[in-house]
Amino acid sequence: MKSLTIGLLSVIFGAFASAHAQNNGLARTPPMGWSSWNAFGCDVDDLKIRQAADAIVSSGMRDAGYEYVNIDDCWQGARDAKGEIHSNARFPDMKALADYVHAKGLKIGIYSSPGPKTCAGQEGSFRHEWQDAATFAAWGMDYLKYDWCYARLVYSNREMPAAYKLMGDALAKTGRKIVYSLCQYGREDVWKWGAQVGGNLWRTTGDILPNYQSILAVGFAQQAGLDRYAGPGHWNDPDMLEVGNGQLTEDEDRLHFTMWAMLAAPLIAGNNLTRMNPRIQAILTNREVIAIDQDPLGIEGHRVWQQGPVDIWARPLANHNTGVAIFNLGESARSVTVELSELGISQEVLVRNLWTHQNLGTSHDEITVEVPVHGVVALRIAVAPRR
Ligand code: GLA
Repeated sequence: MKSLTIGLLSVIFGAFASAHAQNNGLARTPPMGWSSWNAFGCDVDDLKIRQAADAIVSSGMRDAGYEYVNIDDCWQGARDAKGEIHSNARFPDMKALADYVHAKGLKIGIYSSPGPKTCAGQEGSFRHEWQDAATFAAWGMDYLKYDWCYARLVYSNREMPAAYKLMGDALAKTGRKIVYSLCQYGREDVWKWGAQVGGNLWRTTGDILPNYQSILAVGFAQQAGLDRYAGPGHWNDPDMLEVGNGQLTEDEDRLHFTMWAMLAAPLIAGNNLTRMNPRIQAILTNREVIAIDQDPLGIEGHRVWQQGPVDIWARPLANHNTGVAIFNLGESARSVTVELSELGISQEVLVRNLWTHQNLGTSHDEITVEVPVHGVVALRIAVAPRR
């Protein structure tokens, strides 16, 4: 019966779905925070979440804008006779954990699935959507990642919008401000309906992995053309960051972080913050790159030029500034010249390098930079004052 209702709803819904309807007032810029999944997977507990919250503060990440401390999969215990979900023994008191995180000036997130089971086989919210939304709100949760996973056993892909709307409505009904993060790997062109079902962000791809090839596949190949669907309150999500994970080089980490900023992507760190070296900390707290991500206009970047291993993306920013990222995906360092006319700029501009934090002077025609292997030069270009 439920499936039939959902099926009808999704047909009706599809008839007048349009983007940009999210109106919970949250995520006016892309959410920033940390999530347990990339570093810890299922091996997560109350202490690790508290330690992550501590580290966000002590590392300067909170002051740089990171706000949400998100518990991903594997916090769930069983339901009781009334159907109420409980956390497992590794999370003895969710309310107390939320209070701890809130006391640090941070917010806290949780994870569930529209299906009967999550990807890690834990209890999902199927047939308990309203009850779980109320529980999450009562615990003090500020963010929900809702992961399709075993929803495929009970819904067809066509029913996705309605299945996600069910939880979107339930969250709205709680009266608590909860960022709603859709995770269904970019299926069914979610960017066309994610905001309409209440989503503040939606995954656009499958899972990211901590290697260069995955970052290229997820961040570059699969994002082009989606920029028009993102904006304040509703963002494309190319998955959580792998900065500091795996064997990524420093240049690869910078390339990854810069691209996510150009994409106006949520910046959800995924490394073990208690073992972060200064190099990784400096990347994650680069305020000039974060300012690109968090630009108030919320206009996602787009590719302006690509040839061989050189890939150039630009992003309109507030105050008539432009963010430009010149990527070198090749195996040798190279010198790249960008014509300002390619960026639609005809005036004299001031150029600033966002990784070296240096002003590069003015230009009225072109900018030449040296880009390292698997690396990026990130620039902010501002119109020069008239002399
Ligand atoms: C899926 C999601 C991941 C993570 C895991 C948890 O794979 O895409 O981001 O949440 O499930 O099981």
